[in-house]
Amino acid sequence: MKHPQTQNRRTALHLKDADPDKFRTFGRAKGRPLSATQASLYGELYPALKVDCSKMGAPLSGLERFKETWFEIGFGGAEHLIWQARHNPQAAIIGAEPFEPGVAKALSAVRDYDLKNVRLQHGDARDVLSALPRESLDKVFVLFPDPWPKPKHHKRRLINDAFLKDIHRVLKAGGEFRFGSDIIHYVDWTLTRVHKHGGFHWQPKSQQDWRVRGDDWPETRYLAKALREGRTGHFFHFKKSVPQKRG
Ligand SMILES: C[S@@+](CC[C@H](N)C(=O)[O-])C[C@H]1O[C@@H](n2cnc3c(N)ncnc32)[C@H](O)[C@@H]1O
Repeated sequence: MKHPQTQNRRTALHLKDADPDKFRTFGRAKGRPLSATQASLYGELYPALKVDCSKMGAPLSGLERFKETWFEIGFGGAEHLIWQARHNPQAAIIGAEPFEPGVAKALSAVRDYDLKNVRLQHGDARDVLSALPRESLDKVFVLFPDPWPKPKHHKRRLINDAFLKDIHRVLKAGGEFRFGSDIIHYVDWTLTRVHKHGGFHWQPKSQQDWRVRGDDWPETRYLAKALREGRTGHFFHFKKSVPQKRG
């Protein structure tokens, strides 16, 4: 049965191509009205960067010249997305985010740094995931997803069995699923589901493995706030298991 609240909000957001049976996993989609500059970037730059989800494989069109393809799901204020794009010109980076001001920030940075390797989806990342072919990505980032702390909202958490199955499907063998959270219950939740899935490899040598962010994982505004408020970041690098050769 369709969840009535999800359905109404989706209609209001014009996320028409999303499956209305999926629970909404994000909070606000609108912030303050866009400035004139931001609105013009939406009109002029966004159409050129917009990810096509209309058919299987379409999100990758035009990205063939890049050595790798990465996908950041829920990029928030785009700090991490833009940092990765600037430091990794060999990788095409697709970012999906329903929060309009976040997409506006990404568009401004793409213009300011003249980035050629960013593609954007203003909307639900799961629509991009569904249109990505099997074994097409080198890295997927799900960093500090909305925690939905109340038990009645846990069903809205982005990480669930179906989502992990999709991430596993689109990753190449040996590809990385990077996950972070400052909410210990969400860390446990994710580790339980990753373990249950069975297709990811994670064998930490010490606590440093998940306590240290690492040089290629920039801090975002969200993480800085969490740290200021006394929470701790947990940083995970799950690898898609490589099939064993027979004989
Ligand atoms: C807590 S914020 C973290 C933002 C960013 N990843 C960071 O670490 O700073 C979670 C973000 O995920 C986005 N989000 C939630 N569900 C999503 C979905 N289905 N597709 C894309 N983004 C989603 C939210 O809009 C929000 O911006």
